[in-house]
Amino acid sequence: LASIGADLEIASSLLKEGKLVAIPTETVYGLAGNALNEQAVLSIFSVKNRPSFDPLIVHTDSVEKLEGLITGFPEKAEALAREFWPGPLTLLLPKSARIPDLVTSGLDQVAVRIPDHPLTLHLLRKLDFPLAAPSANPFGYISPTNTSHVNEQLGDSIPYILDGGEAGIGIESTIIGFDDDQPVVYRLGGLALEAIESVVGKVVLMPHSTSNPKAPGMLKSHYAPRKPFFLKNRADMAKPTDDAVHYLLFDSFLEGPERGRQRLLSPTGNLNEAARNLFAYLRMLDKLPGDAIWAEQVPDSGLGRAINDRLRRAAALGE
Ligand code: TXA
Ligand code: MG
Repeated sequence: LASIGADLEIASSLLKEGKLVAIPTETVYGLAGNALNEQAVLSIFSVKNRPSFDPLIVHTDSVEKLEGLITGFPEKAEALAREFWPGPLTLLLPKSARIPDLVTSGLDQVAVRIPDHPLTLHLLRKLDFPLAAPSANPFGYISPTNTSHVNEQLGDSIPYILDGGEAGIGIESTIIGFDDDQPVVYRLGGLALEAIESVVGKVVLMPHSTSNPKAPGMLKSHYAPRKPFFLKNRADMAKPTDDAVHYLLFDSFLEGPERGRQRLLSPTGNLNEAARNLFAYLRMLDKLPGDAIWAEQVPDSGLGRAINDRLRRAAALGE
């Protein structure tokens, strides 16, 4: 397994040698490597078992450091960056030749983000290169929100996990691109659309697709537990079943099924708390003995939209 610690010297020397380090962010843990080093980038794809057509997000600690890496910064992108960076927002910007094509899977836009985590910001400040970092999970599985999640799955393939505690937001960043001047949402995430729209006005949603070459990140089945996973309404969930089912619910228990099989994402009905618990609960239910996981959708506002998106994608597997 990997060593786990908060030693920035160890983390930065490994990264300077082209090795990979798992890093904490406020959204989920990332599997980081030097974004400008093709060998490091290739090892990210291979450790994750990620297809080469699914591009990586590049992380940095300041807008100044983006100079030379991008060739433009649309006005609305700049307004969003000013308001929400560091934070759970990724922007798609035109890339310069310094960003290897491997990082963007050959696309002419690069995804960039300044994460809001003190330890990782400190690490990035010590480096003179940006970090490419996808979520630190095997491709297609649930994203990690603490060091144990990372160590269980990738611990044998990486030397070090930088320990920044539990992820405070718990769901990946919101990805925004631009069609001329029009903001387009490529992935719902940890920054609510309401907040984005208060700065740049109406946004449009990019539809999910398994084949749309403009949106390689929008694979429909994703974030999936290994157990059969179904979305159901409460009336159907309450009906008796012969299967050993675990229930993932928003804020209140079902009358029929055994209490011990039911997990509430937020007993107080708080969508931020629900987002923080979502991936850890999915992993926990996936490990328990049982036949299936049944989940209900949460209210479709704030981070609820991103939660529902992840639940729908988890349920899409095997469709
Ligand atoms: O919160 C996050 O964004 C986390 C932390 C570690 O920063 N990272 C993360 O990375 O979720 P990953 O690789 O698991 O998801 C990145 C998504 C993928 O769906 C990918 O296809 C999309 O971003 N993406 C990356 N570069 C892109 C590009 N140039 N154009 C379109 N989509 C892109
Ligand atoms: Mg991911």
